[in-house]
Amino acid sequence: MLPGRSEGDGALAHDVGAARATRRVSAHTEEQRTAARRAPFTALADVYDAIMQDVPYEAWCAFVLREVRLRGWHGRRVLDVGCGTGNATAPMIAEGFDVVALDASADMAARARAKCPAALVVVGDVRSFALEESVDLAYAVFDALNNLIDDGDLQLALESIHAQLVPGGWLMFDVNTTQGLRALWEDGVAEGWADGVYYRWSHAWDEATRLATVEAFCRTDGVSFVERHVERPYDPLELEGLMRAAGYEAVEVITYPTGRRADEDEPRVWVLGRRPGGEPAARITPVRPPRARRARSR
Ligand SMILES: C[S@@+](CC[C@H](N)C(=O)[O-])C[C@H]1O[C@@H](n2cnc3c(N)ncnc32)[C@H](O)[C@@H]1O
Repeated sequence: MLPGRSEGDGALAHDVGAARATRRVSAHTEEQRTAARRAPFTALADVYDAIMQDVPYEAWCAFVLREVRLRGWHGRRVLDVGCGTGNATAPMIAEGFDVVALDASADMAARARAKCPAALVVVGDVRSFALEESVDLAYAVFDALNNLIDDGDLQLALESIHAQLVPGGWLMFDVNTTQGLRALWEDGVAEGWADGVYYRWSHAWDEATRLATVEAFCRTDGVSFVERHVERPYDPLELEGLMRAAGYEAVEVITYPTGRRADEDEPRVWVLGRRPGGEPAARITPVRPPRARRARSR
């Protein structure tokens, strides 16, 4: 997540572009250095929605539903993994689904509960959670699974989610790749104002650890804090392998918004796969290149 993401996603691209053009510096301000340090996704819960107001949550949810339905999915009960303040929970409720929402942060989950009283919001870790009732579809948006940074974390999460899906149920999520975190976050600063919240988020990419870090400074009503967020990239081939190892079939890594197969150098990808069983998945006919291009490439 974060100010500083791919322009194709439409989120905060204006702030980010401007910040890159004029301020490619990673030094922190004095105010940033002295601000109260908070654990990730705690204090941020209060200002998250103000900062993320341009994020196309509805379009992402529509994309998830379109892609799984194209593959034959139908269902009623869905799970928003890493739901945050519930911004991708609300559109699914509006679509008429029974929604369960899971987040490790009690502060973020409390906002989701207030925003989406119709959802069952659960505080828990995606690597080790269990629901009372299985779900037909699980989805995670806005880099939620990039927060799993230790070796084996994503595998555990994929297996936990798999165990909560009905046979034939689908998982779909987005992630930043190495290309995305390296190119888009390297030594950039995204700074701006959003509904009375001043934010100054400094990004860094460490080639040695292959981790991206954001020092997320925010100030509102004279109160300032800084949260440190760390993301680990995941790449298409690796994602396909992890998904299959966790037991998913019909695994694909695609791009938003076209749904075409992702290349290895894509900055951000969407992954989907199905728990075996139930009705067979529908076959997706690959999009054929336009006639002229095919003729030329012969
Ligand atoms: C970038 S936010 C995205 C929130 C929301 N999906 C959205 O689109 O606004 C990532 C969320 O993942 C949650 N998260 C991080 N690690 C988690 C874990 N191990 N289990 C469950 N949630 C986690 C964080 O608490 C945070 O709310």
